Amino acid sequence: MYALAKPLLFKRDPEEIHDLVMKGLAWSSRHPGALRLIDIFCNYKDERLNVPLFGLDFPNPIGLAAGFDKNARAINSWAAMGFGFVEIGSVTQHAQDGNPKPRLFRLPQDEAIINRMGFNNAGADAIAQKLERLFKSWGKPKVPLGINLGKSKITPLEDAPQDYLYSLAKLWPYGDYFVINVSSPNTPGLRKLQDRESLEVLLKAVTEFANLQELAKPMLLKIAPDLSFEQADEILSLVESYTLAGLIATNTTIGRENLVSKIDEAGGLSGKPLKTMSLDWLKYLRKQNQTLPIISVGGIGSVKDVYERLEAGANLVQLYTSLIYEGPFLLKKLNKGLIERKA
Ligand SMILES: Cc1cc2nc3c(=O)[nH]c(=O)nc-3n(C[C@H](O)[C@H](O)[C@H](O)COP(=O)(O)O)c2cc1C
Repeated sequence: MYALAKPLLFKRDPEEIHDLVMKGLAWSSRHPGALRLIDIFCNYKDERLNVPLFGLDFPNPIGLAAGFDKNARAINSWAAMGFGFVEIGSVTQHAQDGNPKPRLFRLPQDEAIINRMGFNNAGADAIAQKLERLFKSWGKPKVPLGINLGKSKITPLEDAPQDYLYSLAKLWPYGDYFVINVSSPNTPGLRKLQDRESLEVLLKAVTEFANLQELAKPMLLKIAPDLSFEQADEILSLVESYTLAGLIATNTTIGRENLVSKIDEAGGLSGKPLKTMSLDWLKYLRKQNQTLPIISVGGIGSVKDVYERLEAGANLVQLYTSLIYEGPFLLKKLNKGLIERKA
């Protein structure tokens, strides 16, 4: 069915379609009948897919990666679609429009996307209110909810910890886990926060905050695929000394290797061309640390991809770009495929 709709959808501007899809999913999120239909057609449940991690119960290991639902508009729909967890954001302290359009580009020949959205989001206050309303009307989401935090563009880099702390404090009651995102290529200077000194200041601030809270919650760090091994080792040692719960590897790449498409747009590349890079990072990180929880993301779109990541030591996986190329029945295909592989 999606194969029929895709050529029509792909004729239109990518962000226009994204907004349309989000509108539909936000609507279905508020309508039990629609959720039921999505569940019937898209979801695949089997207890053998359960993953216990961070004291949470993930119904399956495949989550929605950050950036699709930045403003937490469709959490119920994602759960109904069959995602084992949902990560909203990136959320920043201040509401912001992001970069000028166009800023989202499809590369169909490569099954890839380039984006330079620049953390367009409603800001921590508005998103906290939204989650408060959602929890009041519907209770806690049916799958674990991750909240991914970024830095506002107007906040100078040296004040980054305050920006993350503001959002963290606002959103703490709602997330099951939190992600400190220092790896998006579309906020000037953000990835400098991956450097040892800045990262140490940031991790100290956020873990001090977390340790003071009555309710302990896991905090993860999301890293770029464009790091050197030396930087990755430094990050690993900081993650260990500040006892973070885990890593999310990886964000989009600023590299343009393995591309067939002739496209010259600035931004982060995701989808198939990121697959090997992201898998290689998973293998490297797992070699360096055998126990640290890792959520692997980047170019995952088939049962084989998911299986390969789990075999290489990922505790969970996430996807974004393949959902655009494969459509809403993807989760059923992947989860069913995992069970068939297990059998
Ligand atoms: C349009 C778009 C927007 C994104 N926005 C965010 C974001 O706000 N925060 C974040 O941590 N990652 C963001 N990402 C990165 C994804 O979460 C993911 O790490 C990356 O796309 C690799 O996965 P994929 O190949 O399955 O898409 C974004 C990706 C895309 C394509």
